[in-house]
Amino acid sequence: SAIGLGNLWKFPYLAGKNGGGAFVVVYLGLIVILGFSLMLGEMVIGRRGKSDAFGAYNNIKKGWGFIGMLGILCCFIVYSYYVVIAGWIVKYIGMFIRGGLTEDPVLTFGNFIASGTSPILYSFIVVVVTAAIVLKGVSGGIEKASKIMMPILFVFMIVIVIRSVTLPNAIEGIKYFLKPDFSLITPAVIIAALGQVFFSLSLGMGAMITYGSYLPKDSNLIKSALYIPILDTVIALLAGLAILPAVFSFGLEPTAGPGLIFITLPRVFAAMPFGNVFGIMFFLLVLFAALTSTISLLEVVVSFVVDQLKLDRKKATILVSIIIAAIAIPNSHSFGPMADFKVFFGLNFFDFLGYLTDNILLPVGGLMLCLFVGYVWDKEDLKNELTNDGDIAFPLFSAWMIGIKYLGIQLLSLILLQAVGITGKKMSYSLVIIFMIQILFHVLENKRKVSAV
Ligand code: TRP
Repeated sequence: SAIGLGNLWKFPYLAGKNGGGAFVVVYLGLIVILGFSLMLGEMVIGRRGKSDAFGAYNNIKKGWGFIGMLGILCCFIVYSYYVVIAGWIVKYIGMFIRGGLTEDPVLTFGNFIASGTSPILYSFIVVVVTAAIVLKGVSGGIEKASKIMMPILFVFMIVIVIRSVTLPNAIEGIKYFLKPDFSLITPAVIIAALGQVFFSLSLGMGAMITYGSYLPKDSNLIKSALYIPILDTVIALLAGLAILPAVFSFGLEPTAGPGLIFITLPRVFAAMPFGNVFGIMFFLLVLFAALTSTISLLEVVVSFVVDQLKLDRKKATILVSIIIAAIAIPNSHSFGPMADFKVFFGLNFFDFLGYLTDNILLPVGGLMLCLFVGYVWDKEDLKNELTNDGDIAFPLFSAWMIGIKYLGIQLLSLILLQAVGITGKKMSYSLVIIFMIQILFHVLENKRKVSAV
């Protein structure tokens, strides 16, 4: 679930767009501060609640399922634009099979995404293939296959990185990507990095709750919550190192946006022996990584519809897929005929949905998660679940709690306030008020403990 287009497509272009190294340090900082803590929070809720996001919250504490519902809505929205990008990958596989790009990659890409119908048809292919996999119940097979495909993808990435960093003038790109210019760290960069942390780790939308619910009672959650963010970040950094040095070497614009890998990689492959074959195989692996994400995105929504609307699985899968296909159209058109059609905040449809999920809904989901773990869930119960009833030591429990309760809540509130336009003095006051309420709760909690003793 974690590794997907978020690492391979989104991270490099966001880094390129938001000042390179400045974005990367903020991203790494947020992974350390929030990534591990929230990952552990979601997984432990899942394993304890033994259900999808909605059911798991409810099973632990009645009435809190709405947090999970928000996450399911988020999965639905993300799925509707994820298929568009995955469709572009399908198109590129086809292009490499037919012998590679004939024109300049910038032109090829620009013409393709602006062409209206063709990219929509490619996204429909992804919708249909994903639905077929979910309907046939072969997702388990795909999951097993990914144990082989993902390591191969990793090897391919290393090869591309080596080619990319040895291109003429690549050092400029390496510097841009790895040498932070701290003056470029603006609120917008921080917001973008936080959104990407959530997106890339699949946090704030209940996905990791669902996966946590599949884990056996004796698995070590603390280890998993540590490994997943590390691995996810390694892949994202490799993708950045594969793309940005080449961008500078070929004199392309690092700020090009969502098309960055599609205009850069064809040139890298052209500069390699057997570049076309390599291109086919690489994009196939990327498509595979994307499909493992689309499958779980669809699963989350379908299982909710099955449980709540009491539809059978087949009907639910088809219904959700049709609605997704319909929403994929304006998403895809945002790069062509609807590029200048602004929905909200001066953003077109695709950009608006991205902003809504990454910068509002996911951080809200994260904030609720922190509130739930920090204040709603009984501490003893939580601790037992985390340590497998005392079998695993977790000496950092209190530190983790502070991370969730104070760092998490304060930081996420700050970013949300910023994202909705509350800045300056008003923001500081709001944060102080939130902190004072937290201190009050802390005092009350201790009082209760003392009187209990
Ligand atoms: N993390 C995935 C990626 O990097 C995208 C994603 C976000 C996702 N939320 C999800 C995938 C929920 C599956 C389920 O591509």
